[in-house]
Amino acid sequence: MKVISLIGARPQYIKEAVLNKAFKEAGVEEIIVNSGQHYDYNMADVFFEKLNIKAPDYNLKVGSGLHGEMTAKIMVGFEKLVMDIKPDVVLVYGDTNTTLAGAIVSTKLKIPLAHVEAGIRMLPKDMPEEINRTLTDRISNYLFCPSELSVVNLKKEGITQGVYFTGDVTYDLFLQSKEHFDYSVYENMKLEENKYILVTLHRDYNVDDNERFEKILKELDKLSKDFRIVFPIHPRSKKRIEQFGYEKYINGIELIEPIDYLSLMGLLQHSKSVITDSGGFQKEAYFSKKPAYLPMPDPAWHELVNYGMNTLCEADNIYEKILDEKDYNYVPNIYGQGDAGEKIVNILGERIDV
Ligand code: UD1
Repeated sequence: MKVISLIGARPQYIKEAVLNKAFKEAGVEEIIVNSGQHYDYNMADVFFEKLNIKAPDYNLKVGSGLHGEMTAKIMVGFEKLVMDIKPDVVLVYGDTNTTLAGAIVSTKLKIPLAHVEAGIRMLPKDMPEEINRTLTDRISNYLFCPSELSVVNLKKEGITQGVYFTGDVTYDLFLQSKEHFDYSVYENMKLEENKYILVTLHRDYNVDDNERFEKILKELDKLSKDFRIVFPIHPRSKKRIEQFGYEKYINGIELIEPIDYLSLMGLLQHSKSVITDSGGFQKEAYFSKKPAYLPMPDPAWHELVNYGMNTLCEADNIYEKILDEKDYNYVPNIYGQGDAGEKIVNILGERIDV
């Protein structure tokens, strides 16, 4: 069996680490194609280095751009590669423009398509990620679901063929790398256990809307009087602060450069709680038994909100919600047993006849 994994953005590099290991252990040839949607060292290369993922075999170097432009550029480059390599299956991950581009190319070339992290549904419907994940699910042959709820979501849309509940590959990675979490940022910043809140925000929904972003920053500013606020800032959000002239709100916030997975996990372990709009980080907070506050209209992981481990917030009531923190009741194993990567490789191995 010959597989291509198409990745291109930070959360996909992380997921690839698990599949790359699982394919290697099964003796399967995996060709890694990086679309290059993310390209800064600390948004891309650092993940390959720190997580021991083999360097991508191809890099399409598409960079940033308008959605249509970026998706189209990936499609043009990826189509040529797929025609050349003739893989038995293409894997796409999550919900980025890279995911959708790979999905369209593969199905049109009649190459079986596998979607890792299928079945997630989240409002608003016109969010780029929701469009990408819904369309990808619609045309995938193998839909690897991270949670039982994602299987139910697909069923509601009439998608039942090729659906597998494997668990979440990010849980595999969390368990596999726990021993290697990097506490150096925590130590260098002289942080103290449970006395700081870790923030990540980058959704266009939150940071491209100047009024909404202003409200969120004001909440962080209020919180900074009671807690240290550590914010590894995504380039998109950093640009918006400059563009909207919001420097006045960030005096109390400790902005740091985006950091690699192991360092982020190290910071997370001793934090009091997190504020985030990142789908992946909401779950990593849960794996770490930390409350997460989500300034979003709808969560990616409804189960975590239903169990009370994640809390939805308005843009202007994050402070209030955090001060009103409830007891944390941890419900284990919502995202499988930490063997999702192995399961995915086995399912593909059994079904793809070569
Ligand atoms: C993308 C994904 C999102 C994912 C996120 C993880 C889509 C639609 N969104 O959002 O689902 O959660 O990646 O980070 O695919 N930029 C840099 N350097 C980089 C990358 C980006 O400066 O290495 C800046 C550019 O100004 C760019 C902006 O960030 O225009 C946004 O990047 P883009 O890839 O479009 O979306 P993300 O917000 O990263």
